[in-house]
Amino acid sequence: MSQKIIIVSNRLPVTIQQSEDKFNFMPSAGGLATGLGSIYRKGDNLWIGWPGLYDLTESDEQYIGDELKKDYMAPVYLSKQDIQDYYEGFSNRTIWPLFHYFTEYTKYIPELWDAYVRVNQKFCDTILQHASDGDILWIHDYQLLLVPMMLREKLPNATIGFFQHIPFPSYEIFRLLPWREKILEGMLGADLIGFHTYDDMRHFLSSVSRILGHGSTMGQIRLNNRIVGVDSFPMGIDYEKFTKATHSPETIDKLKKYFQILSNQKVVLSIDRLDYTKGIKQRLEAFDMFLEKYPQYLGKVSIILIVVPSRVKVDQYNQLKNEIDTIVGRLNGKYSRMDWNPIHYFYRSFSFHALSALYSSAEVALITPLRDGMNLVCKEYIASKLDKRGVLILSEMAGAAKELSEAILINPNDSDQLVEAMHQALEMPEEEQIARNEEMQNKLKRYNIHRWVEVFMQQLDKVKELQVGLNLKLVTGKTLDKIVKHYSEAESRLILLDYDGTLKPFASNPKAVKPDEELINLLTKLTEDPKNRVVIISGRDKSTLEEWVGHLKIDLIAEHGVWLKKLGAGWSTIELLDQGWKEKIRSILDLYVDRTPGSFIEDKDYSLVWHYRKADTDFGELRARELLSNINYLIANMDLQTMEGNKVIEIKSRAVNKGKAASKWLNEGKYDFVFAIGDDVTDEDTFAAMPDTAYTVKVGLTATVANYNVKSPEEVREVLNTFADTK
Ligand code: UDP
Ligand code: G6P
Repeated sequence: MSQKIIIVSNRLPVTIQQSEDKFNFMPSAGGLATGLGSIYRKGDNLWIGWPGLYDLTESDEQYIGDELKKDYMAPVYLSKQDIQDYYEGFSNRTIWPLFHYFTEYTKYIPELWDAYVRVNQKFCDTILQHASDGDILWIHDYQLLLVPMMLREKLPNATIGFFQHIPFPSYEIFRLLPWREKILEGMLGADLIGFHTYDDMRHFLSSVSRILGHGSTMGQIRLNNRIVGVDSFPMGIDYEKFTKATHSPETIDKLKKYFQILSNQKVVLSIDRLDYTKGIKQRLEAFDMFLEKYPQYLGKVSIILIVVPSRVKVDQYNQLKNEIDTIVGRLNGKYSRMDWNPIHYFYRSFSFHALSALYSSAEVALITPLRDGMNLVCKEYIASKLDKRGVLILSEMAGAAKELSEAILINPNDSDQLVEAMHQALEMPEEEQIARNEEMQNKLKRYNIHRWVEVFMQQLDKVKELQVGLNLKLVTGKTLDKIVKHYSEAESRLILLDYDGTLKPFASNPKAVKPDEELINLLTKLTEDPKNRVVIISGRDKSTLEEWVGHLKIDLIAEHGVWLKKLGAGWSTIELLDQGWKEKIRSILDLYVDRTPGSFIEDKDYSLVWHYRKADTDFGELRARELLSNINYLIANMDLQTMEGNKVIEIKSRAVNKGKAASKWLNEGKYDFVFAIGDDVTDEDTFAAMPDTAYTVKVGLTATVANYNVKSPEEVREVLNTFADTK
């Protein structure tokens, strides 16, 4: 079977409604369904999602499944309880309001979270029934944030993309969620995570860094064993479909009817799902102010207000419906004349051709969401303007505003600005309308829905390639066999082992970093082989190393090379160092301790260390950058250097580093197998000092001069165990 793309979203592009004993298959509204609806019917592709009904009989499920299959779809059946707790509940009472910055509407209810986990698992199980090796699994939107990791656990090598169609809020908002870690971990199961805008991407990366402690470079998060790409891909529309529709007979027919009814009026178009994020109330209030301020438009301008029913069982939506009804009633009551109504209000969805007719005829589109991930309606309006006449008023808070900068951009909370924007739009000279629309059309034509899918897939491919490249450098499989073969043939081996992050994972609890019994046994076994010379090469001070492993037949390098201890001899230092610099540097570090809560100074024999692992992650990084640039400037003419480790900055003599210390072992012995392993920046000096024939291994997947990688301290032990078991 060829490779297929499986699209997964909560809602299928069709929604099925039951009337008596008949099922009606209707196109779904909402940007996700309408946008992707143009591209999935190809090859063996499949779209998996909820068909919009619940608690069906087995035979109805069978019938619906068969019908959907004919149109490249497969259903996930949900129960009434699932819909209440997962869809209306956690998805639309918790995530939707929170991610759109409506914290006052957000509910934090553990039972709803449990249902969210349960239903995400249901989706995952259905996907697993359809997925084959090599397929691309593309998960969409906020209802399914846990699915990528659930899939990853079952299919470790799968290609998984995730796209979020709604905003990702700033860390200050996201952190309010009691389940914030689980949600981020769920998303990180994907290989590539896409958002509509750079701001959403930035907010996501900041939450990942501050909540999970994973930093990122150039949109890549390097986890212990995988790389996850994060990028922004502003979703486009099926441009051609909208331009073509404008001259279709169905659209022309509708147009004729509209012109008959609205012949001597200018039309301001407002189309949204019923949603408090869309700013519908505020828009209507502004229209009221506009008619008050510019009474010359009475009788000459009407709003066509289309509100598509949505999530009606969620309280805020229901309440909003009542509020809109009231405002429309009040305004029509206030301004209507026998021959003119200011607002033509429709609470229902419209057919595609009816929408097309409205888009192409309306003089103004008023799209003023308080927050919107993208907003496709505004793009569809511009695409439908064959004669390029018409004015778009667009909220800055819609993702689309980043691309459609030629629209009249407004802050939807600024009612005066909205009033002036309506006035400007109705008065805008035609040449200006054409010039603005031409620019916007060019962008929308180029970056259409097909291009959007193509670019996402290309990026997904790139992340996978990067992962394959890294896998080739991993000390596993054939690579491990090759190294072990060399090991077994060697007569004299030098093995250099970093301690923290290599032999033991990082931990804040001091007890947890001490060598455990298994590690002591492993080191004992390695050192018992007379062909091995084992050296622990660490930043730790000499008394700690002495206490932990001093009893073994092992050489030690402490404080990144300040202190050396060879078997059978005592500790020695490579040179007597001047300590005069410490006082000056300490006064600067003191300042940083005061300004960075949680950070502290460690005074080592020949160096000073500023630790910030207990400080807020982002803040600590920020201060670390600042401190480094300060200190580097100060020590430019001194024989000192700064070294960055894992959440530490160390200042010490230039004459000392792990590489220089390791060279002493290399120079004094003759080895036909050299192996050096470590995880942080200070180990790069060791790697650089090794001969070309050495095996240098970096723990973790970040950039390195080492020629191999392992993913974790657990894997380090596996490799060393293999050595110890080899004669
Ligand atoms: N739409 C529809 N029927 C209607 C009104 C709108 O199918 O009666 C479509 C519209 O063409 C657009 C989508 O619903 O493609 C709304 O997407 P948008 O991104 O603007 O907002 P969302 O509903 O996704 O928040
Ligand atoms: C937005 C969301 C979609 C959702 C759509 C309609 O576009 O991003 O995921 O499908 O609204 O909402 P509904 O709850 O009816 O699926």
